[in-house]
Amino acid sequence: MLYWLYTRLRIVLFGPPGAGKGTQAGLLIEKYGAPHISTGDILREAVAKGTEIGKEAQSYMTKGELVPDRVVIEIAKQKLAEVGKSGYILDGFPRTVPQAEALDTALAELELPLDAVVSLAVPEDELVKRLSGRRVCSGCGAPYMVGNLPEDPEKCSSCGGKIVQRADDEPESVKNRLQVYAKQTTPLLDYYRNHGVLIEIDATGSINDVFGRVVAALSK
Ligand code: AP5
Repeated sequence: MLYWLYTRLRIVLFGPPGAGKGTQAGLLIEKYGAPHISTGDILREAVAKGTEIGKEAQSYMTKGELVPDRVVIEIAKQKLAEVGKSGYILDGFPRTVPQAEALDTALAELELPLDAVVSLAVPEDELVKRLSGRRVCSGCGAPYMVGNLPEDPEKCSSCGGKIVQRADDEPESVKNRLQVYAKQTTPLLDYYRNHGVLIEIDATGSINDVFGRVVAALSK
């Protein structure tokens, strides 16, 4: 029973900025052990290292625009080819119809079909609240919320790194990210609904409540 769930979870975590994709991915990894593929994390690492991809991506990311499809498609394909046999939790990819089509092709070639697209729904005012209150460790990426910071509010309690605000969590960028999501990414809801793999989750309430809903939906 549930063999695929425990051995090779193959899902996309879908939703607007701040919906909790990264948070739920962390919990799913703990429970099911599938590799996490976050195009946002991969791009931020490239920016921090100053690679060619990072240099190209930086200005799009700071403004809250999408990085060009050809760049992210290549990143996702490479990662899937490396780790996909152990399953995958795709987080933040795909975000456009061309990305979804490229993913379908890549997964067909790898013979690793998608089991579900888990879409996390949160009202816009709550998204703005989550994003404006988010702080992250510049060292290990650990997330924090204003109001629940460590005793030294600039020092990560896991690794001692500096706690900062993500450049794209500034109000102007958040506003643009939400508009970009509405325009360029929401068409994928119909795309995946038509493919019969969309699972829609109410992602309001506590992190654990949301996780409970996700696990229950995946178990069906
Ligand atoms: P990316 O890093 O993927 O950002 P995003 O999609 O905007 O998502 P976030 O990381 O902001 O939010 P999340 O849904 O993961 O929420 P989280 O769990 O952190 O992408 C960044 C940029 O990279 C893009 O803008 C784009 O430029 C580029 N990019 C990436 N992928 C791309 C692609 N495929 N194509 C083109 N460009 C791409 O939670 C947010 C906060 O809320 C946290 O503080 C968390 O603690 C809190 N929280 C979570 N759940 C709850 C809850 N239930 N209740 C209260 N608080 C909660």
